[in-house]
Amino acid sequence: MSLAAVMPPQVGQKPDPGMRPVISFHGVSKTYPNGTEAIRDVDLAIYQGDFCFVVGASGSGKTTLVRLLIREEVASTGRIFVDGQETTRMTRRRLPRLRRKFGIVFQDYKLLPKLTVAQNVAFALQVTRPGQRHLKQKVEETLWIVGLEDKLDTFPDELSGGEQQRVAIARALVHRPRIFLADEPTGNLDPDTSWGIVQLLLQINHRGTTVLMATHNREIVDLCRRRVIAIDSGRVVRDEAEGGYLREGEATI
Ligand SMILES: Nc1ncnc2c1ncn2[C@@H]1O[C@H](COP(=O)(O)OP(=O)(O)OP(=O)(O)O)[C@@H](O)[C@H]1O
Ligand SMILES: [Mg+2]
Repeated sequence: MSLAAVMPPQVGQKPDPGMRPVISFHGVSKTYPNGTEAIRDVDLAIYQGDFCFVVGASGSGKTTLVRLLIREEVASTGRIFVDGQETTRMTRRRLPRLRRKFGIVFQDYKLLPKLTVAQNVAFALQVTRPGQRHLKQKVEETLWIVGLEDKLDTFPDELSGGEQQRVAIARALVHRPRIFLADEPTGNLDPDTSWGIVQLLLQINHRGTTVLMATHNREIVDLCRRRVIAIDSGRVVRDEAEGGYLREGEATI
């Protein structure tokens, strides 16, 4: 089976001038209850099919940005739109539908240790879309995409770190999200394995899914030459179409 059979068609990387962003931030700030200003006056537009790295020092606000997107945190000021809908005003009842638009992976894979690879992925699908038909087929297709079709009945602790992250990616991908969020997905992996994970995210993007990846991995960002959004103390200080980890001439982030 080809990838084209299971993923949405590819959408152009360069937006038309009149195209509506899939994600937009308008003057967004987030101050946590303890007074920390984690995000400050951020304006952003991300289009369907974009692949963006979000870079910045530890504590600069990358994870907060991700949590604002899925409405795990609410912006203190400003407006956020996902797919044309303002999430900052959404009622709780609407949140499950918003969150189904996203696939999310983190640095730690958070797999359920007592379930097999296939059961971990199936479980995610049953939670996001109860009563889903063709469950087994969807799980197998997704594990094929991440290259783990021969590990269906394996348990997480019998897998390498890179394989576990692939299961986490499959789990996030199985409901065919429009937007894939990866927060430090290679944080626990060696360079070769990290590169494999990024190749997989690029492949997912290539089929039309918008990908946002927060990372400290300089080598990967420099090799990919994709859009780079750099954050410093909660502000977007750089947004380059084909950027590197550092701005030219910069010695450190
Ligand atoms: N729940 C919270 N309550 C209060 N402050 C928080 C909370 N979560 C994060 N912060 C603070 O907000 C700022 C941004 O944190 P965030 O986790 O977004 O950074 P980050 O860029 O993801 O960092 P890292 O690279 O270490 O993951 C930091 O100063 C952090 O201490
Ligand atoms: Mg973080």
